[in-house]
Amino acid sequence: MLNTAQPIKMSDREFPMSDHNFDTISKIAYQYTGIKLPEQKRQMIYSRIARRIRALNLQNFDQYCELIGDDKHVEFNEFINSITTNLTSFFRENHHFEYLESTILPHLTKVHGTDRRIRVWSAGCSTGEEPYSIALTLLKAFGASSGWDLKILATDLDSNVVTTGRNGIYAADRLSGLNPALVKKWFSRTADSSRYVVADEVKKLIQFNRLNLLDNWPMRNKFDIIFCRNVVIYFDKPTQQKLFDRYAEQLNDGGYLIIGHSESLHNLTDRFESIGKTIYRKDN
Ligand SMILES: C[S@@+](CC[C@H](N)C(=O)[O-])C[C@H]1O[C@@H](n2cnc3c(N)ncnc32)[C@H](O)[C@@H]1O
Repeated sequence: MLNTAQPIKMSDREFPMSDHNFDTISKIAYQYTGIKLPEQKRQMIYSRIARRIRALNLQNFDQYCELIGDDKHVEFNEFINSITTNLTSFFRENHHFEYLESTILPHLTKVHGTDRRIRVWSAGCSTGEEPYSIALTLLKAFGASSGWDLKILATDLDSNVVTTGRNGIYAADRLSGLNPALVKKWFSRTADSSRYVVADEVKKLIQFNRLNLLDNWPMRNKFDIIFCRNVVIYFDKPTQQKLFDRYAEQLNDGGYLIIGHSESLHNLTDRFESIGKTIYRKDN
């Protein structure tokens, strides 16, 4: 059947959003987060911000734009959280975890044979499925009491997703793609049986922190592997270029950078060589 429904015009909405309002929101989002909000995102931004206007009992977008003009206002953080897109899943783009297990970890085991220390960063970790998938791969390779010092730093701009990741509690449907043996070994049911909690042995490998990738980074030590998947897709080329060069600085020589399926370093940096599908190594 033909869908005859007409899109609702912006001016007929509950809270009209003017071009000026949309430009203001896009400009603040871009300056603070690097996230580009092109015209095609207008409907999505409308519904996410209208929800905030309702929650705050405001009258219109003008009032909302005035609030977020002040980055110290308590709403600013809510605004940032509401513009991020957090789609993720356990073992998303599974070939990365297969490559981690089959090639990267055996190589790093040799490189770090003396200090027995491996450091991974999940940058733009969303609700935690990515760092937990990394942790489960490390545990599979090394076991739970190997004597190796294994740590994953998991960071995201959105404070809500960082809290979800830190809590490590997931609805059953989030685990549906996971091997049942892994679920049995590393997850337990919550007291009311409605959800699953990640085991402490897995959680203790990961440190969750809020971090805006555009800000200064507080980490003093370098990483062996950086996962930054499906994050730069929201950034423009100059922002991507700067970020990839900063990742090169933050990696050990020969360290690995893993990006998302629709992302590429092509024409952006010459600090890495491509060694697999969206997998790169920092040139020495
Ligand atoms: C689509 S999710 C990707 C999650 C995971 N890496 C994956 O591939 O499944 C993108 C994440 O990047 C985060 N993000 C966007 N801009 C960021 C920034 N400037 N600094 C840190 N994180 C950012 C968002 O909050 C969101 O959680």
